[in-house]
Amino acid sequence: MNEAIQAMQARSSVRSFDPRPLEPAHEQAILAAALRAPTAGNMMLYTILRIHDEKTRRALAETCDHQPFIAQAPLTLVFLADFTRWTELFEAAGVPELAREQGFPWQGPSMGDFLLCCSDALIAAQNAVIAAQSLGVGSCYIGDIMEQYETHRELFKLPPQAFPIAMLVLGYPKDGKMPAPRKRFDAKYIIHDEVYRDFPPQELLCMVEREEGHTQEPIHGVAPAEYVRRFFLRKQGAEFAREMARSAQAGLKAFMEEGRGNGDV
Ligand SMILES: Cc1cc2nc3c(=O)[nH]c(=O)nc-3n(C[C@H](O)[C@H](O)[C@H](O)COP(=O)(O)O)c2cc1C
Repeated sequence: MNEAIQAMQARSSVRSFDPRPLEPAHEQAILAAALRAPTAGNMMLYTILRIHDEKTRRALAETCDHQPFIAQAPLTLVFLADFTRWTELFEAAGVPELAREQGFPWQGPSMGDFLLCCSDALIAAQNAVIAAQSLGVGSCYIGDIMEQYETHRELFKLPPQAFPIAMLVLGYPKDGKMPAPRKRFDAKYIIHDEVYRDFPPQELLCMVEREEGHTQEPIHGVAPAEYVRRFFLRKQGAEFAREMARSAQAGLKAFMEEGRGNGDV
């Protein structure tokens, strides 16, 4: 195996950090790798907020579903799905007038544009994760950055067409050791040949019965259906998931409706 594949195979999320800051060369290399990620139309439809400030990191530890380890990581990167620069460029270049002349008034970014922004931001984030791993820097995604949209918008002074889609916390792992990789579902459930394959419920229950160590709680000692019920209560059925749904709706509404360019319909 080459080094790139080794880094991907060895990676696992790190939630316990050495407090020392990242070496500047490491931080720079991680950010440079993020910027080299593929991007739709080479438009770079994302912005990376680099957060060192301790007060902000402590605030994020609270607003992102009360996860104290967020404040312990020396570096936080917030990945914004961001169409703002292109809206402003289009306006500066006279695109609204052009589009009107052509008979298809520019109405601001579409849902498709929003999804492209999210794709761009997440692909850049994953480049950062792999670059970090190759340098001995641990990382963990924080999906809860999608919650508390209004608070984060105020905290980061976000324009309406910039939505925080992912956050990474990074640092050297405490004790200098990366955790062991965690097990995944059997590949047959995830990689389907040629056409989609639906699995009957019994086979899906087998899917979660994979070996111990695949989730935060081992399944051993619990029947698969009971395990799935408990999992639901911890995740999709939990309060944070309701907040995420509300917040994402609010962010999407701002992105689609509040943005500049809409007045030109
Ligand atoms: C989109 C996304 C959001 C995540 N959000 C969180 C989070 O808020 N808190 C956390 O501790 N881990 C979070 N994680 C990390 C996952 O829990 C972790 O990737 C998963 O359990 C598999 O473990 P591994 O990364 O060590 O292989 C997130 C991962 C992804 C990809």
